[in-house]
Formats: sequence, structure tokens, C-alpha cells
Amino acid sequence: MRIIHTVRELRAALDASTHCAFVPTMGNLHEGHIALVRLAADIGGPVVASIFVNPLQFGLGEDFERYPRTLAADADKLAAAKCDILFAPDVDEMYPEPQTFQVVPPLADELCGAFRPGHFAGVCTVVLKLFEMVRPRYAVFGKKDYQQLFLLKAMARQFNLPIEIIAGETIRADDGLALSSRNGYLTAEERTEAPRLNRQLRRIHDALASGNRQYGNLERAASDQLAAAGWKVDYISIRSRTTLLAPRDDEDDLVILGAAWLNKTRLIDNLEFS
Ligand code: PAJ
Repeated sequence: MRIIHTVRELRAALDASTHCAFVPTMGNLHEGHIALVRLAADIGGPVVASIFVNPLQFGLGEDFERYPRTLAADADKLAAAKCDILFAPDVDEMYPEPQTFQVVPPLADELCGAFRPGHFAGVCTVVLKLFEMVRPRYAVFGKKDYQQLFLLKAMARQFNLPIEIIAGETIRADDGLALSSRNGYLTAEERTEAPRLNRQLRRIHDALASGNRQYGNLERAASDQLAAAGWKVDYISIRSRTTLLAPRDDEDDLVILGAAWLNKTRLIDNLEFS
């Protein structure tokens, strides 16, 4: 695997005809990321992964500075997963000018966007820039970040990008906790508590499966139970999978999304329902 830090080198390594599959990440890689790299490798062409902790998608007071940076260990994992090129630019390579254009996505004030102003503009902007740098034929993203995946699919569609977006299932620990680089912030005690978010989403899933369509009541009950266990809940929300907005009563394809703080760590999760 080649490790490349500049756009110039990247361009030289990827000639215009290579139909690569691309996996963008912020590093500190775990099995969730590696599963996406394997999906990309299954396509059969060259695989490019990127590692870039994108300052544009972190708000003031968020964890940009303390976000774990583990490039050497990440490179080993990517090489073992048959990644061909690791692109790891620094901030000046990605944002050489002090003023930067940004992509303003729809639904930016919904769900996580309501609690992280500017976050999805930061995500869409960096992904559009990475797409132009790598020029992939396929790009693979995880369902773990459901709203991100939804917006990036919409971006590719609406800007007519010649890129097929592929979704990877959420990889979880045995107790249901979705793998996340931020799980590393949890103390041992918090790690034991953390799967409660997923358990509450599953309770809603089971209630929906048994025919309950009282979305508001289901959301409130789950929030209340998390709050009672000491969490600070940003949202628990049942949404339409087609629009990511509030669903109609008879809608078939739903997704249950949640974000909540366990002390200083913000965890997100979601479950599809149909
Ligand atoms: P990051 O959080 O590093 O995640 C990189 C990719 O891995 C995303 O597509 C994310 O959805 C996926 N992922 C994370 N945890 C996962 C899990 N447990 N199971 C399956 N997939 C998982 O998401 C970002 O970085 C950034 O916002 C990025 C898209 C790179 C733009 O900066």
C-alpha cells in the first residue's frame, strides 16, 4: 500500500482511467471502517482510503483537538485489508486558502444538524473535495452515520457526480454498541452503560414491529429512560427513510435515530425498520 500526502502525488498515482473505490475516514480505524474497505475491495478495482480529521465539520468546543490520531496503526490495518492507496493530507493541503467555499446541504438543521451547526456543511464540503481529488467510481460510507450517508447520496445525485454511493451496515460490539472512534473516550463504567442507547432503539423497533405507530410516545419513552439512567439526550426520532423527515402514519420504511451524551461523550446510533 502506498501512503500519499499531497494531491499532486495522488493525481500522479491514479491515472484518469482507474475506476477506484474510495473509503473516506477520519482515522483511528476500527472494524466498522475495515468492513467498508472490504466492501470496496469486493468491487474488484483499486481501493483508496483517506484519513483526514476535518476541522470544518467540528464545532467550537467539540473534540477536534483531542480526536485520536493513530496514522501508523491505521496504515497497518488498511494494508492488511487490501487497501492500495492511503491518502492522508494535512490541513494546509486540504484547505490551502483562508476562505473556503462550502456545500450547504438540505436537512442541515434536522437531527444531528440541530445540535451541531455547520457540521454537515463541513462533511459535504470535505467529501466533495476528496471526490474531486480521488475521482472514484464508487464511494463507500457506513449506515452508522445515517444522516451523513443520506446527505452524501443526495449530494451525489443532485450534483450529478459520476460516483455510486455504497452503504455498509453498522458494525457493533457483542453487546450492541455501534463501533466508533469516540468509544475510546468512554471509561470502563461508561462502556458498560453505553449499549443502553441501542437497547432503547431496539425497544422502539420492536414496538413498531408489533403495530404501534404512536411515534411521539415511543420517542418520549426512550428519551425518558435514557435520561433516568443519567444520559443527556439530544434526540430520539423516528423518521421516514425516503425523506428523513417525520413519517406518515402508514409509512413502511422507517429509521429510528438517536444521539445522546454519556457524560462528556456523544454517541449516535440508528436502526432501520420496514
Ligand atoms: P469516520 O467517523 O472516521 O467514519 C468513516 C466511515 O466509517 C463513515 O462512512 C462512517 O459511517 C463509517 N463507520 C463508522 N463507524 C462505523 C460502524 N460501526 N459500522 C460501519 N461503518 C462505520 O464519517 C466520517 O469519518 C467523516 O464524517 C467523513 C465522511 C470521513 C468526512 O470527514
